[in-house]
Amino acid sequence: MAAKRLGIGFIGGGFISRFHIQSLIGVRDVDVHGVYSKTKTSSEETAALARVTGVGEAKAYDSITDMVANPDIDALWICSPNYTRMEVMEEIVHAVESGKGELIGVTCEKPLGRNVAEAKRMLELAQGADLLDGYLENQIFAPSVTRGKEIVWARGASTTGPPFLARAAEEHSGPHMPWFWEGELQGGGVLNDMMCHSVEEARFMLTPPGESREVLTPISVNAYAACLKWQRPEYAKILSDTSNGKTDYMKRPSEDFARSLIEYATKDGHKVVVETTTSWCFVGAGLRLSMELFGPEYSMFVNTLDSDLKVFFSRNVKGSEGEDLVEKQNAESGEMPVVSSETDAYGYTAENRHMVQSFLAGKRPEENFSDGLNVTELLMTAYMSAEQDKTISFPPPDLDTFIPAVARGEWNPKEN
Ligand SMILES: NC(=O)c1ccc[n+]([C@@H]2O[C@H](COP(=O)([O-])OP(=O)(O)OC[C@H]3O[C@@H](n4cnc5c(N)ncnc54)[C@H](O)[C@@H]3O)[C@@H](O)[C@H]2O)c1
Repeated sequence: MAAKRLGIGFIGGGFISRFHIQSLIGVRDVDVHGVYSKTKTSSEETAALARVTGVGEAKAYDSITDMVANPDIDALWICSPNYTRMEVMEEIVHAVESGKGELIGVTCEKPLGRNVAEAKRMLELAQGADLLDGYLENQIFAPSVTRGKEIVWARGASTTGPPFLARAAEEHSGPHMPWFWEGELQGGGVLNDMMCHSVEEARFMLTPPGESREVLTPISVNAYAACLKWQRPEYAKILSDTSNGKTDYMKRPSEDFARSLIEYATKDGHKVVVETTTSWCFVGAGLRLSMELFGPEYSMFVNTLDSDLKVFFSRNVKGSEGEDLVEKQNAESGEMPVVSSETDAYGYTAENRHMVQSFLAGKRPEENFSDGLNVTELLMTAYMSAEQDKTISFPPPDLDTFIPAVARGEWNPKEN
């Protein structure tokens, strides 16, 4: 008997959809049938990529509703910009509830919402329409993270006690599209954009294998945010030039550096700590993800730029700029690390495998919108802490209505 397969459609035809499509080469039982993006060209290009990659006979669609109406499409992957979450999810739910078509589930890229109110609404909408929901946090699926967790908990934690400190950092030289740099469109700066990964990855490492996030209770958040590089006039000018004058970091900057310290209480009354840093002003070979875990008699280290493959190009090698060696690559010469399979190393392949198999089994994915909501709650508390320059007990009052100053266009450290 033929295996049951999941037909999926992508909403958004940009950077992350391309990553997901590449990763599907390593995922069984799934076919990409459609792409709907803001422009017909990006829908067509991304659908063509899926066909050429061999992961489905994808077609470009004119609307989300049209994709829902296709009986071959069972689930949608939301990969459009942060500021489109509400309209996208509302159209999906409207199409399902008005009988245009049926879906098993939806997945949504990070962040689930630009603030707690949006993230809560995403969860409510999915549950109200009886859709299974997957939150796309790739880092907790990265093989070095899952294998590291397995080994450290099996050998170290079982004999000497559970870990007490997880550190995570995500750093690169800045996002590829102007909307990421706009606090109002994106929801914040680098804290919202990238700390979402680090807080969740570190929380995952501290959670015993097989247990849910409820075994750890967040009790306080302390954070710091600053604009270290991109408000310098020469760098603000680059942002202005690459956005046709729209991005104005002299007047409306976002934080390009942030750190946070989150305290959790375990069920047996111990305190464990997550420490994160994140930056859009990191200049190195390219994207650097680092994850560390510490327990009483053991530790674990991941640094994605410590790759097993390195190449060297002398100064006589001249070529064009690219991202062929590593994501957010900064150079083309000298000794360069290469992440030979980024879709695997960053966790996209295992993430999509889990989402596809969960949907086919009719089960809610282990990483779902409730996790995305909790991540948003922690990030918003981090903004509160950075704004008030003090440690905030979790959950703070007013969390549901809080919008960071940077997302209101009212944050400018140069003016204070
Ligand atoms: N997991 C990760 O590491 C990771 C990495 C990058 C981006 N992301 C997330 O993925 C999402 C998309 O980011 P990206 O880098 O692909 O951005 P992008 O700007 O490269 O691509 C966004 C795409 O969405 C399309 N779009 C715009 N408005 C739309 C709408 N209303 N409906 C449908 N499509 C629309 C655009 O035309 C474009 O093709 C963001 O939420 C981002 O935070 C996650």
